[in-house]
Amino acid sequence: MKTRAIDAIHSKLLDRIEILGAVSAEEDRLTRLSLSREMETASLLIKSWMSSAGLVATIDPLQNVIGSWPNAHATKPALHLGSHYDTVVNAGKYDGVLGLLLNIAAIEILQIEGYTPQRHINAIGFCDEEGARFQTTFLGSSHLCGDLDPSVLEKRDAQGITVRDAMQARDLDPEKLSAITPLIKANDLYLEAHIEQGPALEALDLPLGIVTGIAAQSRIQVSVSGKTGHAGTVPPDLRRDALAAAAEMILEIEKLPVDAPEARATVGQLHLQPNVSNAIPSQVDFTIDLRHPKFDTLKKLRDALRTQLRVIAAKRQLNLQIEYLQESTEARCDRKAKALIARSVSKIQKRAPELLSGAGHDALKIAQTCPIGMLFIRCQDGLSHHPEEHVSPEDIRDALEAWIETIKTIDSEW
Ligand code: GLV
Ligand code: MN
Ligand code: MN
Repeated sequence: MKTRAIDAIHSKLLDRIEILGAVSAEEDRLTRLSLSREMETASLLIKSWMSSAGLVATIDPLQNVIGSWPNAHATKPALHLGSHYDTVVNAGKYDGVLGLLLNIAAIEILQIEGYTPQRHINAIGFCDEEGARFQTTFLGSSHLCGDLDPSVLEKRDAQGITVRDAMQARDLDPEKLSAITPLIKANDLYLEAHIEQGPALEALDLPLGIVTGIAAQSRIQVSVSGKTGHAGTVPPDLRRDALAAAAEMILEIEKLPVDAPEARATVGQLHLQPNVSNAIPSQVDFTIDLRHPKFDTLKKLRDALRTQLRVIAAKRQLNLQIEYLQESTEARCDRKAKALIARSVSKIQKRAPELLSGAGHDALKIAQTCPIGMLFIRCQDGLSHHPEEHVSPEDIRDALEAWIETIKTIDSEW
């Protein structure tokens, strides 16, 4: 009976990954950005799946979907199980969604088994982990932890639409945000399952891994301003070419891991003006995504980088503006939660390897409020933020079994 129930729910989980993978702003690739129409469609699907898993499901004013398994006799702090359902542009269909659907599937099985938890359990679908639209990141988890900075409502997307306007366009009321009591509290526990997004598990030939912590991250906006002019006439010594300067800066940024091998530095977005072939570029705006396991080192690296970029701008007589959009200190997973996840994983595979997450997750934000634990699931070729991102059905099945076991063990022992 138990195996048959798991088989059926595993197969439903695989179908749901495909269904959400098709909810996109673009016809032939997956792009689902925060507070969009597609997020609304996805949120309604997730809500209906939570309800059919036996949860009391609601959607909050930021499009977080919350499925609650209330417990009038709870003797322990609440357990929150979450991941996100927004995506990057041209995304894979497993990033965030796999963890979110795994939570719903595990809860559905526990409900079928007649399991009685000792605490209140919530499954949460977060609305903005990627921050691909407003360069925000963690809007949903910040809100549920009670520390959403109200100024983020005025942040604009590339079209100039603010978070506030985007909420209103979806009939979501920004005024309701401050009235909501935070769901995630200091003594609670937050667990997240997520694809690894790197190659370590594949190299170890193991489907599952235990996360030890999450690297610190920083998103920086750089604006370089020069002067446009005729491409055919302005001599080299009179040029104030913002793009040539940005190119020199980007090559410096690329070199960052030479001195700090654990650092990751990426320029992923670049806008150019006037962006025509026969005029000198007058303005370049680009982002830097910086990561390092230690926030203290990250801060030193970004300060040194700022100095280098200033030197390049000064040498070329250009204006430079640098704005820190978002910074998160590193997070460590709770020692006991880690051990209990490892114990469940060891029932599935011969050992439970430990991995540090270079990618960010809502758990990174939530770690500022309560203890966290994370499970990683192998993905093919370590690919993520890529349309060919893939996780095998067998690995998802292993993850589901390990996750059901984890929830029960944590419920009784944490
Ligand atoms: C999210 O995927 C991030 O690490 O940027
Ligand atoms: Mn993710
Ligand atoms: Mn991602």
